[in-house]
Amino acid sequence: MLGSRELFPALTAEPDLVYLDAASGTPCPEPVIAQLTAELRGPAANPGRGGHPWARDALRRVEDARAAVAAFLGASFPDEVAFTRGATGAMAFLADRWGPAALANGGDILYCSGDHLSTVRPWLRLAKRMRHQGVRAVAYRRDRLGRIDADDFARAASDRTAVVVVTDVHNLHGTRTDLAELAIPPEATVCLDCSQSAGRLPLRLAGSRAELAVVSGHKMFGPPGTGTVYVRRGQHHRIAVDRAAARSGPAHHVSPLTDAAEEGSLDGVGAVALASATAFVDGIGLDRVGGHLAGLAARFADGAARIGGVTLLGPPVEADCAHSGIAAFSLDGQAGADVAFALERGGVYVRAGDHCLEGARDDVVRASFHLYNDENDVDRLLRGLAAAAERT
Ligand SMILES: Cc1ncc(COP(=O)(O)O)c(C=O)c1O
Repeated sequence: MLGSRELFPALTAEPDLVYLDAASGTPCPEPVIAQLTAELRGPAANPGRGGHPWARDALRRVEDARAAVAAFLGASFPDEVAFTRGATGAMAFLADRWGPAALANGGDILYCSGDHLSTVRPWLRLAKRMRHQGVRAVAYRRDRLGRIDADDFARAASDRTAVVVVTDVHNLHGTRTDLAELAIPPEATVCLDCSQSAGRLPLRLAGSRAELAVVSGHKMFGPPGTGTVYVRRGQHHRIAVDRAAARSGPAHHVSPLTDAAEEGSLDGVGAVALASATAFVDGIGLDRVGGHLAGLAARFADGAARIGGVTLLGPPVEADCAHSGIAAFSLDGQAGADVAFALERGGVYVRAGDHCLEGARDDVVRASFHLYNDENDVDRLLRGLAAAAERT
């Protein structure tokens, strides 16, 4: 299955296309499409709204999905997981509904100025709203290779630090954060953005320092617009639940987290299909996926080093983070959009642009591999890059 596009109809429909933009969104595999279709063809009740068998059955399927996603993330309990609209929705939820109580007595929110805007913006907005209560946003940096600068982190951290926002795998550099290497103050709560790690690397949230986390479903083979938020039980008392709104959500109570995050009608179809995406990935095995991605990243780095003018942005491929399969590079004297367009004309789809980062360089291109990519895909990228380099 690894390196095969067989189970991905969007890819088999275009055999000459090389899709290298998984970090934006992964195509859906057959088992997820089958689950989505079955959900849409089956009883169409709103989960938990009403006591009739269709509504009860829809609710049971959502709760089964919750348990499956919780197990996939390594959570201790299903009620620590709620379904959201992507990671952006999940992060905004945490800042809006968990943040105010957690920061009621003031404190610093540590965030990385070089991280995805969806990760950073909700916390900056919160700090602004709560500045009169002594809340500040304090930035820490990444180094040239995209790794968190541990010294700068230590400078930013203090006994005022209340929340530490960290990205697990960076969306441009592909670097993975080792929380153990950061001087995180003991009282601080860690919020981990797992948008790029879920589906690429095993997650064990229960045993980690992170008590809050967000996940993007459409970057791990789930349907577009799906995602999850994780809040450990010990943090549930800080979630602002709107009792009246909670009553208009699922008719049964799971946890303060689900009461607050799943107000209104739930995308039960998306939740069940996201659970089938976790089964799909687990069926292949995340250790094998990581090994496969590391192999592709190493092949790319090796080939790119032989093309004059190509500079890789991330850390060396021997580093652990190569397992993320995300590689960023630039081509001397060429705008990223031009390089991406040249590759696109050769049937290789990559990502250029601002990469959802503040002040991103405009010459940087990202190739993100996933389990359906193979060595030929890497070689097509390298050939395209070599051709583009010749034109400079
Ligand atoms: C690190 C990171 N965080 C958050 C997001 C936003 O995710 P979503 O598309 O699920 O809202 C992305 C998307 O690219 C990302 O890479």
